[in-house]
Amino acid sequence: MAVVGIVPAAGRGERLGSDGPKAFVACGGRPLVEWSLDVLESVCDRVVMAVPEGWDDGSEDRVVGGAVRSESVRAALAAAPEASIAVVHDAARPLVTRELVEACVAAVRSGWDGAIAAAPMTDTVKEADPERRVVRTLDRSVLWRIQTPQAFAADTLRRALDVPADVLAAATDDASLVEAVGGSVRVVEAPPENIKVTTPLDLEFAAALLRKRS
Ligand code: CTP
Ligand code: MG
Repeated sequence: MAVVGIVPAAGRGERLGSDGPKAFVACGGRPLVEWSLDVLESVCDRVVMAVPEGWDDGSEDRVVGGAVRSESVRAALAAAPEASIAVVHDAARPLVTRELVEACVAAVRSGWDGAIAAAPMTDTVKEADPERRVVRTLDRSVLWRIQTPQAFAADTLRRALDVPADVLAAATDDASLVEAVGGSVRVVEAPPENIKVTTPLDLEFAAALLRKRS
């Protein structure tokens, strides 16, 4: 039962606005992606990373990613035919913990098709129409903000990713594609520090948290 880590790291990081790709900007004294690689490598048998064009080094654990995130995941998974469990984790979440990855993998081992990191809603959530008139207030007690890691039965994920490019482009996470093929997915509560680096402020915040950790 090979557990393979899949790290989409092929994005451009436009909202961060750095010189190079976001996965390789310095954070806490090393390239951002390396924090995630360390944690995944401590749990998985192997880790495959999808990188931007020009960042592959010829090793079998680096593949060139696609135009959208899910295409990058598909490309990396295609390089790991031995995987029976795939753990997808964004390079942009350097504060992932080993315990969180293990909890997701354990849920898949126990029979779920997918187990995904998530945070409970702390804000009140409302739906508004295009004119921004509030339509309703949602029950936040049943709502979760979805993150990575996301662990899957690898065959189910392969089937879920075998869809046209426009479907891949519209997917904001891999679990939604697994849900679309009828897969069972559960949420695993993540520690509050599992933030995503999107903007320069996030990068500062992540670096401060990583400093505090070490
Ligand atoms: N990603 C990827 N391939 C893409 C797009 C994104 O592998 N074609 C990866 C990113 O490298 C990142 C993760 O998916 O680790 C989440 O994407 P996001 O946070 O949106 O990163 P970027 O796409 O790089 O940032 P932006 O949207 O601001 O350009
Ligand atoms: Mg993006």
